[in-house]
Amino acid sequence: MLSLSNISYFIGGRALYRNASLFIRPDDKVGLIGLNGKGKSTLLRIIDNQLTLDEGSVSKAKDCTIGFLNQDLLSYQTDDAIITVAMEAFKDAVDTQRKIEKILHQLEHDYSDDLVNKLAKHQEEFERLDGYTMQSKAEEVLEGIGFSTEDLHRPLKEFSGGWRMRVMLAKLLLERPSLLLLDEPTNHLDLPSIEWVENYLRNYPGAVIIVSHDKRFLDEVSTKTIEVTNEQLITYEGNYSFYQQEKELREEIQQNAFENQQQKIRQAERFIERFRAKASKSRQVQSRVKALDRMDRVDEVVNDNAVVNFRFTFSQKSGRHVLQLNDLSKAYGDNVIFEKPMPHWSGMIKSH
Ligand SMILES: Nc1ncnc2c1ncn2[C@@H]1O[C@H](COP(=O)(O)OP(=O)(O)OP(=O)(O)O)[C@@H](O)[C@H]1O
Ligand SMILES: [Mg+2]
Repeated sequence: MLSLSNISYFIGGRALYRNASLFIRPDDKVGLIGLNGKGKSTLLRIIDNQLTLDEGSVSKAKDCTIGFLNQDLLSYQTDDAIITVAMEAFKDAVDTQRKIEKILHQLEHDYSDDLVNKLAKHQEEFERLDGYTMQSKAEEVLEGIGFSTEDLHRPLKEFSGGWRMRVMLAKLLLERPSLLLLDEPTNHLDLPSIEWVENYLRNYPGAVIIVSHDKRFLDEVSTKTIEVTNEQLITYEGNYSFYQQEKELREEIQQNAFENQQQKIRQAERFIERFRAKASKSRQVQSRVKALDRMDRVDEVVNDNAVVNFRFTFSQKSGRHVLQLNDLSKAYGDNVIFEKPMPHWSGMIKSH
């Protein structure tokens, strides 16, 4: 379905990935995890062909289609109703529907057999594309992620950023690409919608890669976890909880192997040091030197999760009131966002 082989990617001289690889099967539900700034969003953009690798390759199945939910979609605006935006997922059916409507309109004043034949052809095509069910499918998904039935015919541009992202998510889910890339999909969702999306993705017929810091969500959906760490992609064949246990186990094994090896190295070094001048031991010394040279060194466990401690010191104390808002009102048309006097808020943000 998708594989990345020995990829390297640098940003401004810094390696995000060095010889990293991954492999994804057609129905894998993957949680892509890692600390902030490690390169998760960048990896999705690499997979989506938006970025060029420094080394290595990305290979996808021939018929692979990609749907990518990312924060860039926040800027998408249109006067179209959200149901229309979501139905763009069925582009071919929507185009066919427009042709049918046009012909029906023409037929009102210009009847011809030719037009009737064309109409029949398009109607057949519309049926083949499941056009008759596209609206109900779009309604089901939009309502699943929290829209009320009345909202469906309001224009997209009237909604806040978070709600617009939900529409974009609905559209992607309806498109059913064979590979869904979701960058922090739960950021804009409330709990009931998150649960709906979990259920939808669990049964999704294609592969899904989800970047998320929401451990519960990942546990519910993912069957595989890939961690971005130390410029590598480390795969775990299970959900987030499995990853946590497995990682602890792997690190314990690696740390033990590291400590055992270090002990052997120290013993060999002590032997060499002690007997290097002694002719009768020269063969044993040589063999230990060679063994040390040939040894495959076990790395110490590197803790990526280093905690940073810092303090800010200020030469000047800030004023008592950082910001003061007086008698503020804001409305979009009839939609009053807040109105003076603010009932629960004194309108003052204090510096401490
Ligand atoms: N266009 C760019 N120019 C320069 N640096 C960039 C650019 N895009 C990303 N970076 C840097 O690349 C690194 C990886 O960024 P990326 O957005 O992939 O991280 P992330 O793992 O998605 O982090 P987060 O969890 O915070 O979303 C970061 O250090 C970031 O500052
Ligand atoms: Mg990111």
